[in-house]
Amino acid sequence: MANINHHYLKLQAGYLFPEISRRITQFSEANPDAALIRMGIGDVTEPMPAACVEAMQKALAEQGHRETFKGYGPEQGYPWLREKIAEHDYAARGCAIEADEVFISDGSKCDTGNILDILTASSDSSGRGNVIAVQDPVYPVYVDTNVMAGNTGHPDENGEYEGLVYLRASRENGFVAPLPDGPVDVAYLCFPNNPTGSVATRETLKQWVEHARRHNTLLLFDAAYEAFITDPHVPHSIYEIEGAREVAIEFRSFSKNAGFTGTRCAFTIVPRDLMGATPDGTRIDLHRLWLRRQSTKFNGASYIVQRGAEAVYTDEGRQQIAGLIRFYLENARLIREALKEQGLEVYGGVNAPYVWIRAPEGEGSWDFFDRLLNEAHIVGTPGSGFGRSGEGYFRLSAFNSRDNVEEALRRISRMKLAVS
Ligand code: MLT
Repeated sequence: MANINHHYLKLQAGYLFPEISRRITQFSEANPDAALIRMGIGDVTEPMPAACVEAMQKALAEQGHRETFKGYGPEQGYPWLREKIAEHDYAARGCAIEADEVFISDGSKCDTGNILDILTASSDSSGRGNVIAVQDPVYPVYVDTNVMAGNTGHPDENGEYEGLVYLRASRENGFVAPLPDGPVDVAYLCFPNNPTGSVATRETLKQWVEHARRHNTLLLFDAAYEAFITDPHVPHSIYEIEGAREVAIEFRSFSKNAGFTGTRCAFTIVPRDLMGATPDGTRIDLHRLWLRRQSTKFNGASYIVQRGAEAVYTDEGRQQIAGLIRFYLENARLIREALKEQGLEVYGGVNAPYVWIRAPEGEGSWDFFDRLLNEAHIVGTPGSGFGRSGEGYFRLSAFNSRDNVEEALRRISRMKLAVS
């Protein structure tokens, strides 16, 4: 009989979004006529930029001719896309990232999980590999993939895993978690933050890079929402900080800026300066390992999709994306204003597509989820699904049509939301 990866059995109830889906299905079966407005999962709703669609149509047509047909592409992505990314996302911001340090993929969610392939051998009997730090609240994928990889022990009564270091973000620290007290091997950072919408200042990122350099910590920097940064002082990339090339991997995505959530395209930066250690302390560059991992387990993102992503960097593509970002941020502003008027405490939604709301006094995150679902037929995301520090909070996504946002806010305005 096949021996299973028993670490999966440590995972709790289910990944957050499937649990939300389960509750929605239950509600919809009981209330088949209710017109639900989904503001839970951060999935884009507006059409992709025309420049991207046209580029993909052209690329698709090429596949129909012997002369232009493409079979397998380079596993790490086509050079023309990698070069555009290095130029527009990095060189233009003063970051020295070479095209061959850019790895194109089909999603940041996969990459943030897959990166563990090069960090841990199969887990040891104590159930601990690297010492991993996560911010709390946290995008659940960072935690669950570490559980699957055997980097944690079992969860405690709060659902927190033995062996993980939780860095608490709260309204007291502006939802920017402090640095770890001592050394950790790996730390996940997400800015603009999912779920709280907070951003890290240059000073905060400098402290992280200095700490990482002092303690040989690998920073896994998730910048999937960088396109939503409106504050000109907030860095878009960890590589805007001197020394970051030696300590950080950065994850970026075309999902949220250019509407690729269904089409799938993202990229990960692994600088050549970045080192990890073997058990005997030999330093090995992570770029080599990630290239080996990708060329063995991945056959590259589709040619058609990469052509679509390339169009993001054309003048039309950039303009169209700026329009999409403005549109979603205006949704976020409307949500913020309406909830503030209801007397609720509201965070995020200025440099991020997520609005983070303190639930009314005395209500837990799932209570508020159920109340919004039952009274207003609105689906949000309970903050507690992102970790212990998310309890008592609630996330609304600004990815929606304007009609839906306005209708949702009308419904909310009719609810009695006690002031917290
Ligand atoms: C979210 O709702 O947190 C996002 O959709 C997660 C993701 O992009 O995978």
